[in-house]
Amino acid sequence: MRKLTRQVAFDNAWDSERAAKVASLFDGLAPDWAERQADPSRQAPVLDALDRGGVDQSGWWLECGSGAGGNTSLLGSRLPKLVALDLAKEMLLHAPADAAPRVQGDSCSLPFASGTFVAVLLVNMLLFPAEIDRVLAPGGSIVWVNTLGDQTPIHLPVQDVMDALPGSWTGCTAQAGSGFWLCAQRSAASSPER
Ligand SMILES: C[S@@+](CC[C@H](N)C(=O)[O-])C[C@H]1O[C@@H](n2cnc3c(N)ncnc32)[C@H](O)[C@@H]1O
Repeated sequence: MRKLTRQVAFDNAWDSERAAKVASLFDGLAPDWAERQADPSRQAPVLDALDRGGVDQSGWWLECGSGAGGNTSLLGSRLPKLVALDLAKEMLLHAPADAAPRVQGDSCSLPFASGTFVAVLLVNMLLFPAEIDRVLAPGGSIVWVNTLGDQTPIHLPVQDVMDALPGSWTGCTAQAGSGFWLCAQRSAASSPER
């Protein structure tokens, strides 16, 4: 996963074969996933990012790689406009139906118009920099969380996330619970014309 995480973020190394393998892996993990997501020490960085990350909470948010919906449930009451997206159908089927609309899709090619979201949340999820940037509104934010810090299988340090993103960004980061978060905001002046 470490190698794949770096290849996706820096080399755009993703194709239908990889997508099928990853979907199959997480489909198989889906029945037990909700239990993992329920650990308060893993939830702490997600909640702290919302509390202190300074990201607009009134506009549309996209949670990419939402898994079995643990974070979606956690955030749904605070984010009135939240969409949860995952590649693995079984993950989505295990997610609660009432927390947010659930969409099956691949983050390398998101089924949303450019500039739709004020924020994209990625919790232990692969980073597809160009596509995330495309769906963000000018001045939008990415919220990157690794719930087990540098022990997270899908992990990138803060500086690598900043380096992988196109254009000019400013960020703030903190540790919380067992992990860390980064809230990075695209400079509105450097956002492409939509
Ligand atoms: C490590 S799990 C994390 C799930 C959840 N965010 C959490 O914190 O528990 C990674 C999730 O990302 C999903 N995923 C992997 N590649 C994806 C892609 N290209 N597009 C959308 N989801 C993807 C997987 O199906 C899986 O549910």
